[in-house]
Parts: sequence; C-alpha cells; structure tokens
Amino acid sequence: MKSYENVTIFNHPLIKHKIAILRNEKTSMKEFRELIEEITTLMTFECLRDGVPTVECRVKTPLEECTQTVVRDNAIVIVPILRAGLGMVNGIHVLFPSARVGHIGLCRNEETLEPYEYYCKLPDGIENKLVLVVDPMLATGGSACDAIERLKARGCKNIKFMSVIGAPEGVSRVAEAHPDVEIYVSTLDRCLNEHGYILPGLGDAGDRLFGTK
Ligand code: PRP
Ligand code: URA
Repeated sequence: MKSYENVTIFNHPLIKHKIAILRNEKTSMKEFRELIEEITTLMTFECLRDGVPTVECRVKTPLEECTQTVVRDNAIVIVPILRAGLGMVNGIHVLFPSARVGHIGLCRNEETLEPYEYYCKLPDGIENKLVLVVDPMLATGGSACDAIERLKARGCKNIKFMSVIGAPEGVSRVAEAHPDVEIYVSTLDRCLNEHGYILPGLGDAGDRLFGTK
C-alpha cells in the first residue's frame, strides 16, 4: 500500500501479541472482547499524543502550588459504528470516563458490500468536539467513509478514525476521500476476499464480540 500522511499503522510488539490471540478462531467471546478493549486503549494513547484538548490549572501539593495541564472536560466524543464499534468504547472510556458517545448504525449489504444506515444518534454540540470514530474492521472502507461523511455533514471538523484491523483497499479509500481525518489502524492485513472479508483477518468482528454465530 502507498503511504499516506494521514495514516498511522501501529507496529508495536504488545499490539502484535494481542492481535495474534484475537485472530485465533478458538479465542472465547470474553477474551475477544477484552482484547479489543485493551488494543483500543493502547491505540488511543498514541492517537491522542498531540491531539487532546487541554487546559491549565493550579494544583497545591503538600509543598507548594504549581501550574499543571489537564484534559479539558467534555472535549471528546466517541462514535462507534454499530455493532462492532461498540466493542471499542470501553477501551476509550477507561482513559476518558466522561466522554459522551454518539452511535451510527451501519450494516453492509452482503452482496453489494455497500453500508446502509439503520440508526444515528449524536450528542448535541458534537460539531465542536474532537470526534473519535471507532470500528474494529476497515474492509472496503465503505462504512468508515459513510460515517465520516455523516459527521462532516453535521458540522464536525476534528475527526479521527481508529480501527483494529485494516485492509489496504479500505485504508487507501478512507485516506484519499478524507485527507483531513487522521486514520489509526493497529494492523494492516493482506487483502479482501471475494465476500469483502479481510485476510487473514479475524472473521466477523460483530459476531465474535456478541456471540451471534
Ligand atoms: C462490519 C464492520 C464494519 C464493516 C467494515 O460491520 O464492523 O462496520 O463491516 O466493512 P467495510 O469497510 O467494507 O464497510 P457489519 O456491516 O458486518 O455489521 P456489524 O458490525 O453489525 O456486524
Ligand atoms: N467486517 C468484519 O467483521 N470482518 C471483516 O473481515 C470484514 C468486515
């Protein structure tokens, strides 16, 4: 895949270790859910390295008063793409417990692979926040592009997208369609199969998170 300025692919041994367990078809639903959360937390740490809105405050230690930097309240909104994106929300809430959550429900048509929307509920004021769109799988990129377009139509200007596993086709599509959106993918896989599934991938993330197969 060509390299893009707005794409970060993680190459961290801790994430690789967790991805190896996540891919295993024998990994239980509980462990799968926990791993998705843990990987999301690790990714969020890096994704927000330079991008968290902060404010300064005064803190009194037992010895003296000093100026400190803290994360600004209510600065971040998490937007999972339903269903599988829900599995990543807790991994961010661990770091930002008060982050509000907007939901975009998209489902891929199994033949056309085009996403269709069945639900959308976003917090008031989202257009002025840092919006973290999350979905564990970035396959053709159709769902990610659709969600980002909806958020832009709503006025959001500061959007980052995080995905656990990406296919080169999908990463390129989102990177080119939305050069202003930073894209974070923990692992870049080889390709898509004829049904739009990522290879080697991990199967259907929603089914594995929620036990629907
Ligand atoms: C999966 C996945 C993404 C989408 C990725 O969702 O969670 O949202 O496919 O594919 P794309 O990049 O080709 O759009 P799915 O439509 O299977 O719904 P689910 O999360 O409810 O299982
Ligand atoms: N959605 C998934 O859950 N898995 C894939 O491999 C592709 C899309």
